[in-house]
This record gives sequence, C-alpha cells and structure tokens, in this order.
Amino acid sequence: MMVPTMWCVVPAAGHGTRAGGDRPKQYQLLAGKPLIEHTLERLVAHPRIAGLLVTLAAGDRYWPGLSTLHGKPILAATGGAERSESVLAGLAALPDAVGDADFVLVHDAARPCVRLADIGKLIELAAKTDGGLLAAPLRDTLKHADAAERVARTESREHRWRAFTPQMFRRGPLSAALREAARRGVSVSDEAMAMELAGFSPLLVEGAEDNIKVTTAADFALAEFLLARTQ
Ligand code: CTP
Ligand code: MG
Repeated sequence: MMVPTMWCVVPAAGHGTRAGGDRPKQYQLLAGKPLIEHTLERLVAHPRIAGLLVTLAAGDRYWPGLSTLHGKPILAATGGAERSESVLAGLAALPDAVGDADFVLVHDAARPCVRLADIGKLIELAAKTDGGLLAAPLRDTLKHADAAERVARTESREHRWRAFTPQMFRRGPLSAALREAARRGVSVSDEAMAMELAGFSPLLVEGAEDNIKVTTAADFALAEFLLARTQ
C-alpha cells in the first residue's frame, strides 16, 4: 500500500527537569548544536514526512524560529503543562489539509537518535492497522521494588515492551482519544495509551534500542555517541 506523506507533531514544551542545566534539555548543545535541531533534521530527512509541527512552552525564549528546514515547512504552536496536552495542541494546530482520517506521527524532541529506517518501517506497518508505535521487547530481568527499594518479586518479561516514539495514529481518532483521557482525568504518558483507553490495540513495531530519550545530563554523551553511528 502506498502511504502518502504525513505530518509529524514534535512535543518540545517540557522543562527538562531531570536533565538540569541552564535551559530546557531540548536546547542544550549536543555535538555543537541544540538537541532539538538534531531531532528536527532527522525527521525532515525522511521522504515520507511532509512537515513538522513543534509545540513549545509558553514564553519559550530559545526556539530559533525555524519556518522551513531542508525545504519542508516547520510550524510552531504552544504546548501545555503535560506532554499529552502539548500533543493535543499540536494536533489542533496542524494545517487544514491534514484530514481527520490522515495518519500523523508524534515524535519526542528529546529523541534525536531515531533511525530513518525505523521511521519507514513504522509507517509501512502501522498504515495497515489503526496505528502503532516504535518499541522494543524488554531484555533485562524485571524487578518489582518495595518501598525500601528491595526486590518484592521478579516479574516476567514475556510480552513486555518499552514504548518509544514515533507513534503513528489518525489525526481525528488520536485527538478524540487524548481529549477523552483528559476528560476522565487519566494521565496518559504516550499516544498509544490514549488509544488503548479508547479501545484500540496499537501495533508494536520493533525499533532499534538506541532511539533513546535524552533524560539526564549523562544521556547527552551517550546520544552524541549514538548520533554519529546511526542515521
Ligand atoms: N513535553 C511537552 N510538554 C510537556 C512535557 C513534555 O511537549 N508538558 C515534551 C518534552 O519537551 C520532550 C517529550 O515531551 O520532548 C518527552 O518528555 P520528557 O522526556 O519527560 O521531557 P521533559 O518533560 O522536558 O523532562 P522532565 O520530565 O525531566 O522534566
Ligand atoms: Mg516529562
């Protein structure tokens, strides 16, 4: 099946509390340029991506005000206090040409190392379903901790996956699912969770584990290493 090009919403309205530093992590330098620029460059380099909608914190002083990148349009909108609110704001601000039944991608600004081949694999496989996400099966043994950080029990890792981005769903159903989760007061940590609550079963598409979400200060060095070795 031929999938048309699609837009990608890039939530970048977080404060990067766990990373520390003098500015939000998406604006801290990685290999000489702001982390977010690596992410945006990787996304626009994919032939199936038509444009990017970046959601920014209110009053963001660091956004470079990009309106195109490698000839593709970059739009910006104001995000919210939770990631899910930022994604919903981004979906609402997409161009009218993006229909409710059109697929859109959502990709964290904090994941600069995503591989183009994995984006392509997600688009190809998820387009045959109601949508899906990049993810990887758990490799380590999983421990459930008690309040004193002692092992209460070991849990099976069978059928357990780590969820990454991009995640790909249809604009209308994803917006509706995020709104419904908010209405019910359920805090959803990714798009797939909102879709699950709405009764969908998103497809898990295995992607490379080096698609890390830069979270702590130490992750910058790792991301720099990985960036040079992935494309
Ligand atoms: N994000 C967002 N709006 C929010 C919170 C997060 O757009 N209200 C974005 C972040 O900018 C990031 C992505 O969602 O690109 C993943 O979130 P996370 O890694 O948790 O980033 P932060 O929330 O910024 O970091 P922290 O949780 O350490 O404060
Ligand atoms: Mg966060």
